[in-house]
Amino acid sequence: MLRRLHPVQPESFEFTPANLEWARAQIAKYPEGRQASAIIPLLWRAQEQEGWLTRPAIEHVADMLGMPHIRALEVATFYFMFQLQPVGSVAHVQVCGTTSCMICGAEDLIRVCKEKIAPTPHTLSADGKFSWEEVECLGACANAPMVQIGKDYYEDLTAESFGRILDELAAGRVPVPGPQNGRYASEPLSGLTSLKEFESGRTQYNASVQRAVDLKDTVKRIDGSEVPLVAPWLGKAAPATPARGKAREAKPARGKPADRTGRTVQAAQAVSAAKPETRPAAKKPRALKAPRKSGADDLKKIKGVGPKLEALLNRLGFYHFDQIANLTEAELAWVDDNLEGFRGRATRDRWVEQARILAAGGETEFSTRVDKGEVY
Ligand code: FES
Repeated sequence: MLRRLHPVQPESFEFTPANLEWARAQIAKYPEGRQASAIIPLLWRAQEQEGWLTRPAIEHVADMLGMPHIRALEVATFYFMFQLQPVGSVAHVQVCGTTSCMICGAEDLIRVCKEKIAPTPHTLSADGKFSWEEVECLGACANAPMVQIGKDYYEDLTAESFGRILDELAAGRVPVPGPQNGRYASEPLSGLTSLKEFESGRTQYNASVQRAVDLKDTVKRIDGSEVPLVAPWLGKAAPATPARGKAREAKPARGKPADRTGRTVQAAQAVSAAKPETRPAAKKPRALKAPRKSGADDLKKIKGVGPKLEALLNRLGFYHFDQIANLTEAELAWVDDNLEGFRGRATRDRWVEQARILAAGGETEFSTRVDKGEVY
């Protein structure tokens, strides 16, 4: 299928403050020079916020990651999960049309989409509330036929039950996702034949549905206030309550907050791991106001220094390999402390060791790759 940007585009895109904080935390997961690796989560967040990916959003994300716009456009147009045209303001419906679902009635569901939403996929309904598309297997074949709406699966559908779900959504309600024929999960239609002992202690809905019901964000646009930001790799724990909206229990990926501040065990470990056991008192090194007449060295040849860190080093007065090569331990500690969002990187990535080789006219394995244009 030819995937192109929509002809009508908004003027601009901005992440909400909470989504921006989330996006920055994602970028911080990757080493300097590898920020582009965060492209998919950031594009996805932009889509969750707006419903679809606009050109300004794609370019905004590219700028955040220091990538040429065309590289981000390549990603956005390659993956079908990215919607390149406006979607319904209430919901975008993805109907599975693959074998199990097709045999069990997917074509009936597509007929409902054509009648209730629009005759063709990727087209807004007359009231702008809905859009639909046919997608490949969504991995819920045992509950065929099924659709994905927002984040959740509606399974074991018939034309009637699916039609009712669309009516409910149009009326501003979010029906309970999961099997729509009375099944709990994907057990046999006639009921459990084994593991019956687990039936008594189970939650009202199966785990996926229970979580969806608890979160209530099935078709909601994501503005970042839904769950506390948890970024243990930054030593940053979840706040005690979400920034706004109804307070919910903080649910970090692993473990629970270890104390009343909401600090998780993982966050505590990340912070303590980041602290060197012993380190000399930091001492500010001598710096230059400008590069020498011979011109600045390409500090990006030092592994761990990307364009942003090179600019920061220049602002701190470092332009040449020999300046870094001659740092004492105390001066290196000062540099580490002044790397803003990259504290500790100079020691961790052995900048002094690399700079000594480069200052002496040698090459490192990494600088050779930079010279060959293999590192962006
Ligand atoms: Fe529809 Fe797999 S065939 S979910």
